[in-house]
Amino acid sequence: MLRLWDAIFCLLLASAAPVLSASTRSFENSAIVRTIDLGGSLVHVTTTFAIKALEKDAKEYTITLPEDEILNTSWLEVKVKGKQQPLTVSYSGSPAGSKSYNLDVILEEPLDVGATLNLVLETVQTHATRPWPEKAAQGEEQSLKYQTFLFVLSPYKTNVQRTKVKSSSPRIISYTTPERVEDFTLENPVTKSGATVTYGPYNNVPSSSTQAFVEKYQQPVELHYNYDYPVLQVLKLRRAAEISHWGANINIQDDITLHNAGPELNGHFSRLEHQTQSFYGRGAPHVVPMVTIHLPAGIRNTYYYDQIGNVSTSRLRVAPSAARGQKNVQSSVLELKPRYPIMGGWNYTYTLGWDAPLGDSANYDAKTGKYIVSVPVMTEIPGSVVNDAEISIILPEGAIDVDYVAPFPSVSNEVSTHVTYLDTIGRPLITFKYKNLTNRHTKPIYVSYRVPISAHFRKPLAVATVLLSLFTFAMVVRRVDLTIHKTAAPTKKM
Ligand SMILES: *[C@@H]1O[C@H](CO)[C@@H](O)[C@H](O)[C@H]1NC(C)=O
Ligand SMILES: *[C@@H]1O[C@H](CO)[C@@H](O)[C@H](O)[C@H]1NC(C)=O
Ligand SMILES: *[C@@H]1O[C@H](CO)[C@@H](O)[C@H](O)[C@H]1NC(C)=O
Ligand SMILES: *[C@@H]1O[C@H](CO)[C@@H](O)[C@H](O)[C@H]1NC(C)=O
Repeated sequence: MLRLWDAIFCLLLASAAPVLSASTRSFENSAIVRTIDLGGSLVHVTTTFAIKALEKDAKEYTITLPEDEILNTSWLEVKVKGKQQPLTVSYSGSPAGSKSYNLDVILEEPLDVGATLNLVLETVQTHATRPWPEKAAQGEEQSLKYQTFLFVLSPYKTNVQRTKVKSSSPRIISYTTPERVEDFTLENPVTKSGATVTYGPYNNVPSSSTQAFVEKYQQPVELHYNYDYPVLQVLKLRRAAEISHWGANINIQDDITLHNAGPELNGHFSRLEHQTQSFYGRGAPHVVPMVTIHLPAGIRNTYYYDQIGNVSTSRLRVAPSAARGQKNVQSSVLELKPRYPIMGGWNYTYTLGWDAPLGDSANYDAKTGKYIVSVPVMTEIPGSVVNDAEISIILPEGAIDVDYVAPFPSVSNEVSTHVTYLDTIGRPLITFKYKNLTNRHTKPIYVSYRVPISAHFRKPLAVATVLLSLFTFAMVVRRVDLTIHKTAAPTKKM
């Protein structure tokens, strides 16, 4: 069992060296505020810890997360409020006998007694909501359920904590009223205002990552809410990026299986009803006629086909290529219209590809003689999670000294060789595999390599050789005068 946790933590955290947990008396929390932004496939959680050092040279702050939550967490980052640089976080095992896990955050500088700091923990949970009811007719609304735990756990004493759960719509159908909280509040333990449900404030919460506290006070709370956007999952993404110096081009092709994870369609799909509803702008969110995606600027030869063939109903607005170093680059916008609206529970499999000028994503470092090319891990489909991704980067033939920097750890990666038409020795191929990617994972992989002068000529040489042999063959054929039919024909007559 522990190996699974280790694997998950390795995925979440850049460094996973076990560090001894700091004393529960080195800090106290002046306040903890957790904000949960309810979504469909993705739920964003931001927790701010206002911490105060109680010991001299306090440098390591421990955050406790329940294991149920860890299992659904695909992205995690801790920063000092207002700072850009994330802090180093390491997994330090679980508190004795509890079903939770400790993360140690290394502060940039040790705090003096009484010094304060605001730490912000940001996580993205995937697959954490489920449609309820599980089925809906074409014209019905979509509502989801989400479950979390009432208390933010901490090894330190907390003066006050609250959890705000925000929905995109004020139509929250129901929410749990917590029990056994009289020790922490004399007021209403939960309040709803507009689209926000607030649990707390709860005062004077003791060290809570102990099994005793969890057994006595911790409890699940559930929200049932209307959700007006599609709940999309990319079941499978296969991205191939092919770099060609010969054509100064990078071709990116995505093979995608998109899944509507909203309530399953109850009854039959009626195109007439769909058209009427779309006409009045009242299409249900679990009927997905179109997805809008942002592609790079300056792309060309964009193609989009599914199992039946070309899909021609989509609209693409290409933004011009940006000048080097320019900020706020506009992206091209594609309104991808599947052949049919994707209903709850349905899949749609398609291929989308484009060419882009290599210069937009490549740099040449004259000092090392290396090219550095950036390839985005994925293109975001708004609000969706990518369950399973494989990114292949195909380098030019003859590339050597291949190296890469991935923005976050992958499940696996490997370097192999890819041989295509007109290749002589094949091309280096780097493959990365990922699970549960979110909008926070749309970062580039950097690949660096050298192309020896000889390799630059290998392709033209291969082409020339093929042409030459065709030419020679034609000449030979002409001279020899293949007379099979001439001799065969008379034989037949006889
Ligand atoms: C991806 O998410 C699913 C569902 O939450 C989970 O079962 C699985 O363990 C996750 N995989 C990884 C590698 O995190
Ligand atoms: C993720 O969240 C869902 C919905 O709350 C829950 O059913 C599921 O068990 C969770 N997955 C894990 C691995 O905890
Ligand atoms: C699909 O469209 C592209 C460009 O519009 C065209 O070049 C290609 O031949 C078409 N393919 C099929 C199978 O129709
Ligand atoms: C969607 O695709 C997944 C994985 O390929 C498959 O397991 C599932 O049965 C498909 N669903 C439908 C409705 O075809």
